[in-house]
Parts: sequence; structure tokens; C-alpha cells
Amino acid sequence: MIYARIAGTGSYLPGEPVSNDDLVKRGIDTSDEWIVSRSGIRSRHLAAADTGASDLARVAAERAIEAAGCEAEDIDLIIVATSTPDYIFPSTAALVQSKLGIRNGGAAFDVQAVCSGFIYALSVAEKFIRSGSNKRALVIGAEVFSRILDWSDRGTCVLFGDGAGAVVLEASERPGILASALHADGSHHPILCVPGTVASGQVIGDPFLRMDGQAVFKFAVKVLGDVANEVLDAAGVQASSVDWLIPHQANIRIIQATAKRLGVPMERVVTTLDHHGNTSAASIPLALDEAVRAGRLRPGHRIVVEGVGGGFTWGAALIDF
Ligand code: UT7
Repeated sequence: MIYARIAGTGSYLPGEPVSNDDLVKRGIDTSDEWIVSRSGIRSRHLAAADTGASDLARVAAERAIEAAGCEAEDIDLIIVATSTPDYIFPSTAALVQSKLGIRNGGAAFDVQAVCSGFIYALSVAEKFIRSGSNKRALVIGAEVFSRILDWSDRGTCVLFGDGAGAVVLEASERPGILASALHADGSHHPILCVPGTVASGQVIGDPFLRMDGQAVFKFAVKVLGDVANEVLDAAGVQASSVDWLIPHQANIRIIQATAKRLGVPMERVVTTLDHHGNTSAASIPLALDEAVRAGRLRPGHRIVVEGVGGGFTWGAALIDF
């Protein structure tokens, strides 16, 4: 039997942190007290104007490859989860492949599932590996959400940031990903969306992120609890045997409510959003990598990763690390 295991992790946050007070200094009508009490976010990173998602992804990927002890040429599949690609096409994954110096490589493509994107990409990569068609995949979440924020909308612009996280997922005789579940319900698309596009050289519609925060909050708490239980049930595992819950890093109150529903104490929940905000598809691999590099998440630990985002989409995976 072929399984898929995480062999290495990496992440990257661009530039210097931008604090909540820095946003106030930039003229946004907000306060550190409001942002921290409503979201738990204290600072975020914003990519320079000439830096694209593929640039952030490349650094995270190089760190994951180094941690996995392999070479870029050993990668035969690249999947990038992003909603802020460099271009309409080619895919960000193809650009990352090029920036890693891989020539005549395996498949490279993007998945677009907004904040659930990394879980979607991980699950797709696992299926490629378990089918025997690929041996070593780079699964990346990379976003420059600062590009799609309306900086005059204080209800959204203070919540998001830029960054990238990556894992090398490789074929193994030992189980790594024990169970995964993906879901979507497109009827909820109006509560979190960027309802615009580019056509005939012009922006058509609204090119900025729009969100009904309270509707998103309620939806997120419900589905994150449900989908975590779904993967635990699928593997016949109790929540008490999970060492770390690594949820999408959007809002500390959503994370706390989800952990409570699952009966997982906050000491076993990885939270990193305080210093990078909501980085959409990048948030889960960023949190994963930070936990690994801090020595908290170690080989042999059992984890649940889970995400929810625009679409609406949501998903989870139960993993032996
Ligand atoms: O990947 C999923 C991404 N989305 C999320 O995770 C968002 C989920 N939702 C939330 O986290 C919360 O709904 C928010 C943090 C977005 C908002 O918190 P809330 O408690 O739902 O606040 P609200 O939208 O009901 O606004 C309360 C007040 C309003 O003022 P009034 O009308 O009561 O006078 C807003 O105008 O807070 C005001 N407000 C702000 N004040 C200071 C909204 N944004 C800000 C701000 N600074 N940045």
C-alpha cells in the first residue's frame, strides 16, 4: 500500500511586520484594541508591489525542500493553492516550477478554493501519490491578499495579510494522511467574494474582497467543527488522541469556538494569526511550519488541519506527522 507523508515544511512572510498601530498611522479608522479584541490579529506582512504570489511561494518551497532533504529535481508534482495568482495564466504553480529551476518536470497547476485551498491541494496531491502516478509533491499555499483589499473598508482590510507556506508530500510505506474530507456549497458565495474580473482590458465588476463578517463567522464555526469530526470518524480516531489542531488562521474567536466544539484545549491548538493575520490559503501551512520549527510539532504527532473559505468551501485532514 502506498501512503502520502509530509517530509518537510517551509514558510515565508515578506518584509517587516505592519502593526495595527501602523494601520492607524496610515489613516485607517481603526484601533489596536478593536482589531485584537475582534480577531486576535496584532500585525501582518504586506508584499512589495513587485512581489507576486509565486515569489513568496518559491521561498517557502525552497525551505520545505531543504527540510525534506531532497532536491528540486526530485519534485514531480506542484500544486499551488492561491486566489491571488501572479497572472490569469500561466498558473502560479508553473511559475514556481520555473523559479525552482525545474525543467521538463511533472504536472504543475493551481487550485482555487480560497482559504480552504491548502486542504484542497493537499488532498489532491495525496490522491496523485496514493495512485502511484507521482512520488514527491510540493503543496503550497501562497497569497498576496493585500492586492485585493479595499483599504477604505476597515471591516476587511485590517484582517488580511500576505505570505506562503509549503510542504513536501512524498510516497511512503507508513501512513501519513489518514483521512481527508472536502466540501463546497456555492450558494453561499455572496458572503465572501471578490465579485469582479478583467475583460477587454478593463476591470469588470468589483475587484475588492467583500465580506459579511458575521455570516462568515457563524458558517465557519459550524463547518469547521463538523468537518474535523468527519475525518476523525472516518479514521476511527478520538479528538483526545490528536496532538495538535491546526485550523485556518482567520480569527482567534472562530478558532476558540471550533476547539471548544471539538473538546480540544487551546494548549493543543496552533495559533499564529497574531503576527500574520488571515493569509487565506497560506495560513495553514504557515502555522504548520512555524509549529515544526518551534519544536512543538514533532515526528509521530497526530494533527488535524482544517480550513474554510470563500465559495463556500471547507475541508480537513487527519495526519500522522
Ligand atoms: O477566511 C475567512 C475570513 N473571514 C473571517 O474570518 C471573518 C469572520 N468574521 C469576523 O471575524 C467578524 O465578524 C469581524 C471581525 C469581521 C467583525 O466583528 P463583528 O463583531 O462582527 O463586528 P461588526 O461587523 O458587527 O461591527 C461592529 C462595529 C461596527 O460599528 P457600529 O455599527 O456598531 O457602530 C463597525 O463599523 O465595529 C465597527 N468596525 C470597526 N471599528 C474599528 C468594523 N471594522 C472596524 C475596524 N475598526 N477595523
